[in-house]
Amino acid sequence: MSVALKQQTQSHFSKAACRYQHHARVQGSASDVLLARLAQRPLGLCLDLGAGPGVNSAALAAQSDALIALDLSSSMLAQIRTPSVKICADMDALPLQANSLDTVFSNFAMQWSSDINIVMRELYRVLRPKGRAYLAIVAADSLVEVKSAFASIGREAINHFATLEEMGMAAQNAGFKINWQQQLPLFDIYESAKEALKSLSAIGANSAEQGHKALTKGEYAQILKYLEGDKPEVAVSYNVAFLELIK
Ligand SMILES: C[S@@+](CC[C@H](N)C(=O)[O-])C[C@H]1O[C@@H](n2cnc3c(N)ncnc32)[C@H](O)[C@@H]1O
Repeated sequence: MSVALKQQTQSHFSKAACRYQHHARVQGSASDVLLARLAQRPLGLCLDLGAGPGVNSAALAAQSDALIALDLSSSMLAQIRTPSVKICADMDALPLQANSLDTVFSNFAMQWSSDINIVMRELYRVLRPKGRAYLAIVAADSLVEVKSAFASIGREAINHFATLEEMGMAAQNAGFKINWQQQLPLFDIYESAKEALKSLSAIGANSAEQGHKALTKGEYAQILKYLEGDKPEVAVSYNVAFLELIK
């Protein structure tokens, strides 16, 4: 991901910060899976990477000695009410000491890394030996409906998402042992195509490496028509990769 795109992502998420929780339904389903995996495990010093407005902060804080919430968007961090250390930073260059954390938790954020290999190396660096990372990452074959709708007007709307295999390889190359991995299809159903697009925008998922310029009214109408087809409801599908890694 280019620097320009990273800035675009930051700006999208900052604008979306107030509306985020209202729209983040799939994220909630993914974090339920990750939190169930944590069970009652003590998390020691825990980092929530790409914490957003802190939807998982209370659950993580309850099991941690101390919680660090890190996000690229200061507007997102400003929404967090749970006591935590807040760090506004890029996940690809963590301003944290090596071997300093017991746990990293990251839900629906690492797909925004410039390169999955870089962020995996960063996680390995900051975790203590035997430290664990619990990750839910949007994977390849997500948002296929939206991709096709944009492709129908010759536009690319969605960023490239890594496959579970690429994520696993990046983790192992960084030095991690994979303790658990799984892929789950998750869906959001919207009353209309407009609602679906609004929701993607609210979670910041509407930037792309190429072709990101404002849609004309005509293009927007074409995309809505394509998404709606002849059904009143619009489904948006995600393919989510889950990983538990041990240093
Ligand atoms: C879809 S939200 C997920 C928020 C939260 N983890 C949840 O479960 O709802 C993704 C978050 O990742 C953050 N983000 C995007 N790129 C980032 C980066 N390079 N470094 C740190 N955070 C980033 C965004 O600002 C946003 O708050």
